[in-house]
Amino acid sequence: EFHEHPRDAELSSAGLFGTFDEQQLQRGFLVFEKVCAACHSLKYASFRELEGIGYSEAQVKAIAENWPIPQPTINRDTGEATTRPNMASDRFPLPFANNVAAAAANNNAVPPDLTYMAKARHDGPNYVYSLLTGYQEQPAELLEHFPAAKTPSGLHYNPYFANLNLAMPKPLTQEGQVEYLDGTRPTVDQMAKDVSAFLAWTAEPTLENRHAAGFATILFLIALGILTFGAYRSVWAGVK
Ligand code: HEM
Repeated sequence: EFHEHPRDAELSSAGLFGTFDEQQLQRGFLVFEKVCAACHSLKYASFRELEGIGYSEAQVKAIAENWPIPQPTINRDTGEATTRPNMASDRFPLPFANNVAAAAANNNAVPPDLTYMAKARHDGPNYVYSLLTGYQEQPAELLEHFPAAKTPSGLHYNPYFANLNLAMPKPLTQEGQVEYLDGTRPTVDQMAKDVSAFLAWTAEPTLENRHAAGFATILFLIALGILTFGAYRSVWAGVK
């Protein structure tokens, strides 16, 4: 068995009481913007949702206006192709005009949309982190037993990917690839963790509400349990 289970990215959002680390989400967004967005779409998220990770309205507006529009979009009112700048209410534009163009640019594999990737895969945030930091040489043992599994040219071996060989070249390759604004050292490991945190957020921006509601529910059930037990004891107190 050469397919490996994800390693722990130690995200603050993990666990029953997990909450997002806003600084980390902003760093993760930078990684997405500077690296992943060249190939991957984030088509179910809109620019203005970035206010949810602490960007101001003005910052969001600037991010939207500066975001490249690789191909004309269709004006919903006139049906004409247009290249007007993005507005805060727009969703993130696609990096390729269509899947054929995307596949042509990526060795025949279409880079999947990343909005819900952290939900689509088992143990998603840890999976994304492990995948990004998991590129390695093929183990000799694998080739001994399964010579046909040799990584074809143009693909890359990664034990966290179910097929073991994937079309995405290692996207995070060196420290400082993304410039951080908060003083955090942008090691490859750090950038991988941060973008995983960001994708955990895009997949479930309301995670904190869910955790808080779960916590309140458990507290309520404990209190109810104590009251119910007390009522039971008092109702049956006189019965032998
Ligand atoms: C696939 C994440 C950058 C091209 C994937 C997958 C994830 C991912 C999670 C899905 C694997 C699966 O299906 O389980 C990221 C992140 C990036 C990044 C977080 C930035 C840090 C890039 C870049 C390119 C790229 C820059 C293009 C040069 C692809 C392709 C696939 C893919 C072609 C499909 C692979 C296959 O099915 O064989 N990526 N990616 N990715 N990515 Fe990326």
